[in-house]
Amino acid sequence: MKIITTIEEMQSYSAELRANGKFVGFVPTMGALHDGHLSLIRESAANNDVTVVSIFVNPTQFGANEDLDKYPRTLERDTELSRSAGADIIFAPSADEMYPPNSATFVNVESLTQGLCGKSRPTHFRGVTTVVAKLFNIVQPHRAYFGQKDAQQLAVISKMVADLNIPTEIIPCPIVRENDGLAMSSRNVYLSPAEREQATILYEALTAAQTLIAEGERNAEAVKERLTSILNTANLGIIDYVEIVDFHTLQPTATIKPPTLIALAVKFGNTRLIDNVIINKH
Ligand code: PAF
Repeated sequence: MKIITTIEEMQSYSAELRANGKFVGFVPTMGALHDGHLSLIRESAANNDVTVVSIFVNPTQFGANEDLDKYPRTLERDTELSRSAGADIIFAPSADEMYPPNSATFVNVESLTQGLCGKSRPTHFRGVTTVVAKLFNIVQPHRAYFGQKDAQQLAVISKMVADLNIPTEIIPCPIVRENDGLAMSSRNVYLSPAEREQATILYEALTAAQTLIAEGERNAEAVKERLTSILNTANLGIIDYVEIVDFHTLQPTATIKPPTLIALAVKFGNTRLIDNVIINKH
């Protein structure tokens, strides 16, 4: 297992791998790895010659009052977990290495970033696309793996790759859940025991929405009402949004027709959790 901390070394290592005909798979992360990340690493390791995992808590995607300072940093544990899941290289740069003081360039996807999480986190996706574009230039991967839990992120990054002709294939991977349905997230560790117990309501509400649709409901407003009424039974949770959108445009849809994204964000104390389901067929 190789640990690389400089851009220069990562770029030349990748260039050499590519020159030797190796397929490079890439899993970008902010560390604090859980089984969701490990499923991405395993998928990459199974389909590429070399898997690079980046571990970088990206300051530009955190808003002023968000959890940048307290975001869990567990590099040693993450390195070991990545190795056991099949990673070959960890790229773990410092913030100064990624953003020297004279950095002045951002990458911004103008569509797709306004709604859903973009409403309450207006600078978040600009930070994500900037760091992911930089990481793609540094790691030069053939394929990059992203979880569907961050469905909007996945859509925004896919759009950036298409618009900027970046020669990396984006591979979406399914959400990994705890036994009780809670989607795995590095932020779950912030939940108090009572909040953790109530947080299962997210998946319960999404499952109820799926059932309603399977029974024939096509009216998005009716599905949204059902979802919201279930979420409101969790007295520790405050709804940020419940949205039903076309998965290509991320624009609200009145009628449910595949592919439809049903996405929600709920705050438990200071912890904002997101979850979603994608309706791919009726
Ligand atoms: O999904 C994440 O962990 C981050 O947004 C990413 C893609 C690693 C960029 O910092």
